[in-house]
Amino acid sequence: MNAAAPIDLATIQLDYEGFRALAQDTRLSAHEKIGFPPAYREGFDDAILADIVGKLPMLVEAERQTVIDIGPGCATLPRRLIDLCRDRGHTLVLVDSPEMLALLPDAPGVTRKCAGLFPHNTTEVAGSAGALADALLCYSVLHYIHLDASSLDFIDATASLLAPGGRALIGDIPNLSKRRRFFATERGQAFHRAFTGSNEPYDVAQDAPAPGRIDDAVLASLIARAQAAGCDAYLMPQGPALPMANRRDDLLIVRP
Ligand SMILES: C[S@@+](CC[C@H](N)C(=O)[O-])C[C@H]1O[C@@H](n2cnc3c(N)ncnc32)[C@H](O)[C@@H]1O
Repeated sequence: MNAAAPIDLATIQLDYEGFRALAQDTRLSAHEKIGFPPAYREGFDDAILADIVGKLPMLVEAERQTVIDIGPGCATLPRRLIDLCRDRGHTLVLVDSPEMLALLPDAPGVTRKCAGLFPHNTTEVAGSAGALADALLCYSVLHYIHLDASSLDFIDATASLLAPGGRALIGDIPNLSKRRRFFATERGQAFHRAFTGSNEPYDVAQDAPAPGRIDDAVLASLIARAQAAGCDAYLMPQGPALPMANRRDDLLIVRP
């Protein structure tokens, strides 16, 4: 289904409903359907997957694991994950809108699709998995969940899905505080000049309300919430080869 005019990625409200609209627009590429201009993702799959596997080593070091991917989208990353899970006999539960899930292949005996807005559908996700998760991935999604649901509920739900020894990687989180710190430096300004071709200084406002944005305070509260739910939790950097490593963080939650 296509709207009369092509959807403008720069102006569409990217939340669960916004992504449902993108998924249905046949004029968009797979990366555009998940909200990324091509330059942000194309050619980065290997580096992103290596960074994920470094933080969720059971994906490659073990077999027959229960894996959950919250918000897989429809581009190359979940396809690589499906192949990896097939090769190692893992079960992979894919959780996204019905429109986004319809764009991903069914891999019998490997994938199980669970449609709906997480964490509102946690009971259904647990039922689809049929076991607690050894690995849970939620990559480049938390900032959208943050708009539609309570991020604290998201952490509670994630912790409730983890097996003993299980890990959840909440990856690729845009951190407004980290963005401010980076662009306050000369390296940050040089990065901005090279990226935009403009010599205008780039100022990320300080001490201004930032409704809907994730910053150090939000991340600290999510770490504390995961710890209160019986898990260890760590804020981690992304590998330097990743396209947005200078302004994004990863949150790793580990059930002891
Ligand atoms: C930016 S894309 C990331 C896709 C994929 N994880 C990747 O990194 O290639 C965000 C995805 O999360 C999904 N999403 C957003 N909010 C969600 C929610 N509350 N529950 C499940 N999926 C959600 C969107 O439909 C979209 O497919």
